[in-house]
Amino acid sequence: MPIITTIEDLRVLAKRRVPRMFYDYVDSGSWTEGTYRANAADFDRLLLRQRVALDIEKRSTRSTMVGIDVAMPVAIAPTGMTGMQHADGEILAARAAEKFGIPFTLSTMSICSIEDIAEATRTPFWFQLYVMRDRGYMERLIDRAKAANCSALVVTLDLQIIGQRHKDLRNGLSVPPKLSLRNMANMATKPRWCLGMLGTRRRNFGNVFGHVEGIETMKSLSEWTNKQFDPTLSWEDIAWIRRRWPGKLILKGIQDVEDARLAAESGAEAVIVSNHGGRQLDGAPSSISALPAIAEAVGQRIEVHMDGGVRSGQDVLKARALGARGVYIGRSLLYGLGAMGEAGVTRALQIIHRELDLTMAFCGHTDIERVDAGVLLGLRESRSWLPA
Ligand SMILES: Cc1cc2nc3c(=O)[nH]c(=O)nc-3n(C[C@H](O)[C@H](O)[C@H](O)COP(=O)(O)O)c2cc1C
Repeated sequence: MPIITTIEDLRVLAKRRVPRMFYDYVDSGSWTEGTYRANAADFDRLLLRQRVALDIEKRSTRSTMVGIDVAMPVAIAPTGMTGMQHADGEILAARAAEKFGIPFTLSTMSICSIEDIAEATRTPFWFQLYVMRDRGYMERLIDRAKAANCSALVVTLDLQIIGQRHKDLRNGLSVPPKLSLRNMANMATKPRWCLGMLGTRRRNFGNVFGHVEGIETMKSLSEWTNKQFDPTLSWEDIAWIRRRWPGKLILKGIQDVEDARLAAESGAEAVIVSNHGGRQLDGAPSSISALPAIAEAVGQRIEVHMDGGVRSGQDVLKARALGARGVYIGRSLLYGLGAMGEAGVTRALQIIHRELDLTMAFCGHTDIERVDAGVLLGLRESRSWLPA
């Protein structure tokens, strides 16, 4: 067993254990992958300010996101097909998040269903909703999330049309996996994954299968799904959702100050500054670079969260310093899950938490609630260390 001390260690192990088509589905962005790379690279450009001789013995990373207590300001991002990284993946990730004391967000396009997660956990989880053409189906999804006692609804606004990822096209990605000779040969090298999949009945989109009339086969399911993302989505649909959802409402996929202002007027409790992990508009700025202007414009009126490129506790601290009340992790979680199932997700959370706790202390802080932009020195390339 390799020694695991970073999220990168988990990524390397996941790459070894998860069939190529599903590993690639995670570790990829759209077109040139420029925005995907920038999400992580721009965190590295930010320099932290070390302070010394300040009593840093007793420390707390506890905070809240939309009024909900969190052990650290980190939530699990909604990711589709998580149950293809590891059998019953969403259940395992939700359990790990619950034990750790952070929110888990279930995607509309998950393998395990809303009811599966409700049965496997006791803490209310969050549900992510895509706006679908079939409004009746959306209403039923919202009702199911209410019945499951979900404490927040995350509505994703940036995937009404789908960004193209070259690797997925090449791999013929589908659920269940397309059994081409190449894919089968690759799967045969991942016995642990295959055994897990043989041992579960959850291999379809659990929130769709059995909940939409006329979908009995995988072919009809994928045809229905492809047609459902609604490109006519507008702020009127958000108002419609707001009327139906009495709980916390979070709008995901905001990159622009003007959109953030409209979101703040929509009655939502929070926005997530996000470019969908670099999977949609290639060429968009990194999330961390889009964050400060949005936090400045609407941060007094609505909670601002962010995701994209968070791979360490240092990243969490930097996002918090630039105005994010909380962050979400997508790939950091998926790598943990693919590498070691629930234990891998727990390991990912432990790694990020420890890094956050120590980084905060190195910067002279003992309480995450008091961290502000003062922990940042600026951008690496704009600082000269030579005397003038
Ligand atoms: C494999 C994968 C699947 C995703 N599926 C969804 C989804 O179903 N719904 C959604 O709102 N966002 C989805 N996202 C975007 C994530 O919620 C999040 O915005 C992104 O992963 C954050 O970037 P990070 O992976 O660098 O942490 C997905 C991301 C990945 C990597």
